[in-house]
Amino acid sequence: MVRHTKSSKKEERNRSTLTHKVGYALRHPGRVAPYLRRAGRDAWLRFRHPDHVGYYRAVMASDTRRDPEAAVGSRNHDRWLALGQMQFDYLVEHGLRPEHRMLDIGCGNLRGGWRFIDHLDPGNYYGIDISPDILIAAKQTLTERRLQHKLPHLTLTGDLTLDFLPSDHFDVVHAHSVFSHSPPHVIEECLAHVGRVLTDKGFFDFTFDRTEGTEHQVLREDFYYRTETLLSLARKHGLYARLMEDWEQLPHGQSKIRVSRSPRP
Ligand SMILES: C[S@@+](CC[C@H](N)C(=O)[O-])C[C@H]1O[C@@H](n2cnc3c(N)ncnc32)[C@H](O)[C@@H]1O
Repeated sequence: MVRHTKSSKKEERNRSTLTHKVGYALRHPGRVAPYLRRAGRDAWLRFRHPDHVGYYRAVMASDTRRDPEAAVGSRNHDRWLALGQMQFDYLVEHGLRPEHRMLDIGCGNLRGGWRFIDHLDPGNYYGIDISPDILIAAKQTLTERRLQHKLPHLTLTGDLTLDFLPSDHFDVVHAHSVFSHSPPHVIEECLAHVGRVLTDKGFFDFTFDRTEGTEHQVLREDFYYRTETLLSLARKHGLYARLMEDWEQLPHGQSKIRVSRSPRP
């Protein structure tokens, strides 16, 4: 039995129900018009891009045009900095060293990435993303932070088979706030292949939006999963998997799971 410490009330909510939407609208009337605009835009993008990756890439293009920091989920620059710092501090506390090789799946505009690039030896950071627009913003972050000499890899991808990457290579694989925007088949694709690119002692940390109630999604942008669903999926692909209880103590809305090829690396 997994012990959770985050508010269970929030985690039992099903945001896709009409009752939730009406209650939310009554509590936050100012957010109704922006929500309707977003729902309209998303319906159009889903019509134009029936596959999830194509759709989400179009969402990112539209959001990044407005503000790359908001596109990765930060409401202002201070939050963008704080969220990156939280990701960085956590991994350093868990042993990330400069000589390690790291794969950052869904690296966005390097909110956490620029700190990892700064910390790691040159060439040891590999960021991948489905959005060309956010990768252009990532290069801008890299330039602003004067990290060119660290020669990170920033690569566009269309799927999460990781087939272009070498086997037994990465000590740390990281996906922050990516599976919270991913349907089950995308997560399964990643879990089916990540073991190959991990070293024997390496681990893959990913965050997800946790529900204790019914699994659901909102606008095909936000997905809510039960912990056990994701743990089972990882185990189905021969990986060890556990919820990271120390992450639960941090002021962050999502939960974190660690998977690895060996038990407790
Ligand atoms: C909320 S942002 C988080 C970015 C970064 N991890 C951070 O914490 O700042 C999610 C990112 O994941 C990317 N993404 C979404 N689905 C993806 C997928 N299936 N494969 C790779 N990247 C994906 C998006 O384009 C976006 O840049």
